[in-house]
Amino acid sequence: MDLLFSLIFAICTGPVLLGSSSRVRLVGGPHHCEGRVEVEQEGQWGTVCDDGWDIKDVAVVCRELGCGVAKGTPSGVLYKPLAEKEQNIFMQEVACNGMEDTLFHCEWSEDVFNCLHNEDAGALCEISENVRLAGGPGRCTGRVEVKHQGQWGTVCNAGWNLSAAKVVCQQLGCGRAILTQRCCNEATQGQGTIWLTQVSCSGQEPSLWDCPSGHWGKNNCTHEEDTWVECEDPFDLRLVGGDTRCSGRLEVLHKGVWGSVCDDGWGENEDQVVCKQLGCGEFLFLSVKARRSFGPGVGRIWLDDVHCSGKEQSLEQCQHRFWGYHNCNHKEDVAVICSEH
Ligand SMILES: *[C@@H]1O[C@H](CO)[C@@H](O)[C@H](O)[C@H]1NC(C)=O
Ligand SMILES: *[C@@H]1O[C@H](CO)[C@@H](O)[C@H](O)[C@H]1NC(C)=O
Repeated sequence: MDLLFSLIFAICTGPVLLGSSSRVRLVGGPHHCEGRVEVEQEGQWGTVCDDGWDIKDVAVVCRELGCGVAKGTPSGVLYKPLAEKEQNIFMQEVACNGMEDTLFHCEWSEDVFNCLHNEDAGALCEISENVRLAGGPGRCTGRVEVKHQGQWGTVCNAGWNLSAAKVVCQQLGCGRAILTQRCCNEATQGQGTIWLTQVSCSGQEPSLWDCPSGHWGKNNCTHEEDTWVECEDPFDLRLVGGDTRCSGRLEVLHKGVWGSVCDDGWGENEDQVVCKQLGCGEFLFLSVKARRSFGPGVGRIWLDDVHCSGKEQSLEQCQHRFWGYHNCNHKEDVAVICSEH
């Protein structure tokens, strides 16, 4: 079992990338249905100016992303980290009638000389409650169920793989996919309609609805073939022992317990992700001595061998050893100092 677990773990520890199939995405928000609007042109992601931006425009974005109804037109600057100065602003004066399939089908103008990033548009959509993990111990583990015509049903394991599990975990705001398997016993099997089979995701899709699949309700599957997925729970972080919430020893919350992070392999990329995730600006360079000055922690050492590329929005998207597996002591606890307070 341990070997299988490590194998699965090794396969799915890449950074999460959003939006290869859709040319719009929402960044910096708590889930894929809220954030600053970005659109893709020729492989580059740029922002949208909020001149004339209204709820009809947001409605189109929400639909395009497979999210629910449009709830608001927040300013893009609410979502951290802010757009980089050099990032392009691709659209302005967007005027949708609300029925278009994609933002690019609306009327809009490319002429962006009088827009700055403090006018970036944002979008707030309802998270579509059409996927869930049922019958498990929490919302991030269970039998995959999808809602169609107002009715929840299961998904057949045929054609399903870890990339599809990754999409579901991300869509639900959980961490990485750590396991997918058939529902193996009667207690974990579903009932009623088996809605989907042959769902094939590359892993880059923003939601399960972007993955090709067989027709709704047309399959020869039985509930013994229902799909079961386990994702990591999202975890919280904090910096403790410093003067402000933006400096100190790093702690992460797992299973309701705060624990420290070992500094093996820790560096500037990892610092950067922590400062970004906490909305604390840039990281400041720290000597080993300064890093240790926040004192050793006590209790659990949750994470070790953390590796980020620096582009991740949160530490969950970085690689690390399995929770609680380490070869460290508290003298090696990670500390971080960021530029803003
Ligand atoms: C899952 O299947 C899809 C499509 O069949 C494929 O693109 C993807 O690479 C597969 N992922 C894994 C982890 O095997
Ligand atoms: C279900 O099985 C029947 C009989 O074997 C076959 O004709 C049919 O094509 C199958 N349907 C699907 C959706 O695979």
